[in-house]
Amino acid sequence: MDGTLIFSALWVMLPAYIPNNAAVVAGGGLPVDGGRTLNGNRLLGDGKTWRGILLGTLAGVCVAGTLNISAPFVQMIGFNPIRFSLRAAFGLAFGAMCGDLFASFLKRRMGKQRGAPLPGMDQLDFVCGALCVTTILAPEWTFQVFSVALIGVVIIVTPLLHVMTNIVAFVTSLKDEPY
Ligand code: CTP
Ligand code: MG
Repeated sequence: MDGTLIFSALWVMLPAYIPNNAAVVAGGGLPVDGGRTLNGNRLLGDGKTWRGILLGTLAGVCVAGTLNISAPFVQMIGFNPIRFSLRAAFGLAFGAMCGDLFASFLKRRMGKQRGAPLPGMDQLDFVCGALCVTTILAPEWTFQVFSVALIGVVIIVTPLLHVMTNIVAFVTSLKDEPY
């Protein structure tokens, strides 16, 4: 795999990677579904909170801003980093949170309790959400940045990174499960 492509994939997806981790650290409080149920199961569950969405999205946007600021320095060492428009930054961060919400919605419909794993979905829900919302909010930016090759690298690299960060979060007691 091309090293530059891996670097670009990590760079462009960082504002979508951070929100879920920020939500683990800073989330909690009032659940988005307000305790409502559908066919006896929670709509989303206690693991999806307003504070998690808000602070997670904010963290992702801040990361995109930080990457924009550091782009000229990265350029000096030979890379040509992607810049984020505000719409793109918001789309990636909020979209990642939406993907995570959608996955929880599906998990509850399958009767899975909060925290139960759903392999594949757990690792890629936020990628799908980020791509969908960014395509809606910043279509030009999305089509310019996300080549087929870049999306391919993102789909391969993200699950590996996700598994690694979750193991770290589990070992440091930030998460109750290592997935
Ligand atoms: N979190 C939050 N708000 C969100 C997303 C996450 O507050 N929108 C916090 C919750 O404390 C949650 C933790 O981050 O328990 C871990 O997130 P995640 O693994 O996505 O949730 P789970 O608790 O595993 O619930 P689910 O089964 O619905 O994924
Ligand atoms: Mg979970």
